Amino acid sequence: MSANEELKPYLITDPREMSRRVDELRRQGKRIGLVPTMGALHLGHLSLAIASKNECDVTIVSDFVNPTQFAPGEDYDKYPRTLDADIDLLSKIETDFIFAPKPSDMYPRGFDATVHVGGVTGLLEGSFRPTHFDGVALVVLKLFNITRADVAYFGQKDYQQVQVVKKMVADLNVPTEIDMRPIIRERDGLAMSSRNQYLSDDERRQALVLNQALEEAKRLISEGERESSVIYDAMRAIIESAPSAKIDYMHIGDPTSLREMERVCGNVVVLLAVRIGATRLIDNILIEK
Ligand code: PAJ
Repeated sequence: MSANEELKPYLITDPREMSRRVDELRRQGKRIGLVPTMGALHLGHLSLAIASKNECDVTIVSDFVNPTQFAPGEDYDKYPRTLDADIDLLSKIETDFIFAPKPSDMYPRGFDATVHVGGVTGLLEGSFRPTHFDGVALVVLKLFNITRADVAYFGQKDYQQVQVVKKMVADLNVPTEIDMRPIIRERDGLAMSSRNQYLSDDERRQALVLNQALEEAKRLISEGERESSVIYDAMRAIIESAPSAKIDYMHIGDPTSLREMERVCGNVVVLLAVRIGATRLIDNILIEK
């Protein structure tokens, strides 16, 4: 082992080198945890890396702004890229590897494959961003194949993404286990997100309506409200109190299929996408009986 490798995390950019490392580790019987990210790391990402550190012998955090999940006109170019700061953060928790390939390493000239998961991709984020989940499924499957992770950690923050990834691994017999972890929030309730950086101070204050609307939904349901339309009205009133807020969707659905429920019955997930000025934010809450 060279001196460089003793410094954690060890940065790998070449997918073939990552796979070689993983082969060695697997031969030693190590349990491998993967945390897929697009970088610009915050405590939400770190909570996933810490979960992996606690449960696995080796933790790999991937740091890759995946071009295939952005549509033309979305924020691919302006998405924050902060690899040095990400490495510093991950070194604090002694992450083993950071895998940060270049787009041309992941999608070399002539790359042609696609991955499409049906069903759960057809609504919510899928209807506002029709090609998004194909790009997510493609890169996640590639990351699973490169790292051969035993377990991969995902945040509830992107609830629909977790359902898409779970469906993909089930349908395609991918042996990686999917572990969903809770949403990490700022002290005032705003869900942490790399995109929060786009908000002005005033928009940042207005963005609190997302969490407030979800908390109101939870309160109404705990008091016995069952009519989704009544819950939507209450949520809309809160969100529209923010002058720059525009609702893309509010959705009360089954926690697995995400099918919309007109009446609340059993466990539900309430999902929201709201634009605050030019920034699109998503949030959700799981309400379990
Ligand atoms: P990214 O948005 O960087 O998120 C990486 C992981 O961190 C996701 O599983 C996401 O749900 C989780 N995460 C983000 N904010 C969180 C928060 N506040 N609390 C808990 N977890 C949080 O999601 C992606 O990247 C990409 O689509 C990816 C899966 C990496 C594929 O490119």
